[in-house]
Amino acid sequence: ERIAGGDAVLLPGFVDLHTHLREPGREDTETIASGSAAAALGGYTAVFAMANTDPVADNSTVTDNVYRTGREVGLVDVHPVGAVTVGLGGKQLAEMGMMAAGAAKVKMFSDDGKCVDDPLLMRRALEYAKGLDVLIAQHAEEPRLTVGAVAHEGPTASRLGLAGWPRAAEESIVVRDALLARDAGTRVHICHASTEGTVELVKWAKAQGISITAEVTPHHLLLTDARLESYDPVNKVNPPLREERDTAALRRGLADGTIDCVATDHAPHAAQEKCCEFSVARPGMLGLETALSIVVETMVTPGLLDWRGVAKVMSERPAQIVGLTDQGRPIAVGEPANLTLVDAAASWTVRAADLASLSGNTPYADMTLPATIRATVLRGAVTAHEGAVRR
Ligand code: NCD
Ligand code: ZN
Ligand code: ZN
Ligand code: ZN
Repeated sequence: ERIAGGDAVLLPGFVDLHTHLREPGREDTETIASGSAAAALGGYTAVFAMANTDPVADNSTVTDNVYRTGREVGLVDVHPVGAVTVGLGGKQLAEMGMMAAGAAKVKMFSDDGKCVDDPLLMRRALEYAKGLDVLIAQHAEEPRLTVGAVAHEGPTASRLGLAGWPRAAEESIVVRDALLARDAGTRVHICHASTEGTVELVKWAKAQGISITAEVTPHHLLLTDARLESYDPVNKVNPPLREERDTAALRRGLADGTIDCVATDHAPHAAQEKCCEFSVARPGMLGLETALSIVVETMVTPGLLDWRGVAKVMSERPAQIVGLTDQGRPIAVGEPANLTLVDAAASWTVRAADLASLSGNTPYADMTLPATIRATVLRGAVTAHEGAVRR
């Protein structure tokens, strides 16, 4: 098959270390099939599906099912993430070894969705992970510092009475787990870094030789808590949108390699979970289909990253962090390729109803964004072309 490249930019297929597909359990908001379509349209060739499904992905029956369904859909490689504990935020370590040894060969374990509340449990998880050579991804919220279920903090949030998740709740876990990873001699990955302080702490930990990596979401690079003025629950997310000094620090950190990669934290929710009062709305935003455009807007256009840098933060580094050998690297002649072809000069207007996701909770509705995905190629087969998926 021939695809006209023209003046498009050819990149390695994107790798998302943080995607919420809602299968099993909430197939009304996203399925592995609909999420895979959204991923392919966003230029992704691999996604890591977070464990906070229902039932929770805390055993190899669930992780192997997610993996097999992803292969059947065939639009993107779906790598299930295992839960660190039995149940979300549970009191007992999950049998990580069995998930790692299963068909899915689980490479990453996370407490995303509900933080493990017990430092000793996290210490044991890191020690167990070392023996298995798997990655622990840390949702980074100290729940005892967070007010209720309302996850916001900042000048607008405070004035509107929406305060909840302070910087210290994130940063104290970053420090704690950097030190635990140091002592266990293992790796730890910080999910959705959102504060200036987290960037400084990750930089400090790396300078100590600690094996720590971190991701930032597109929305934390672009949006601030000023968006909360509207009380629109679409802006409710974990961790909360913060301030300009944070978006600035996150952009600088991503440019200088302190923050390793971009991860979407694609979090689909039903309309009825996002239309209610702010305090009871579910946290989370869509991300797969808009990620590249937001990275262009926040990093490429201001001159903080060139296209080589985009390849690094969207594909190479995430593939390395999790040990994927078939993604994020140059290919040999004749080898089936994972590629994304980007139309850098194009722009598009986001319409929630046009997205492939089954949910509509994008914070970018009606915004015109730079850059489109012209085509995505998974192992030599076109999975998306000119805004349509190929099945
Ligand atoms: C995520 C979700 O909806 O599963 N929500 C969110 O706001 N990011 C969970 C999470 O990543 O913390
Ligand atoms: Zn999280
Ligand atoms: Zn946690
Ligand atoms: Zn998440």
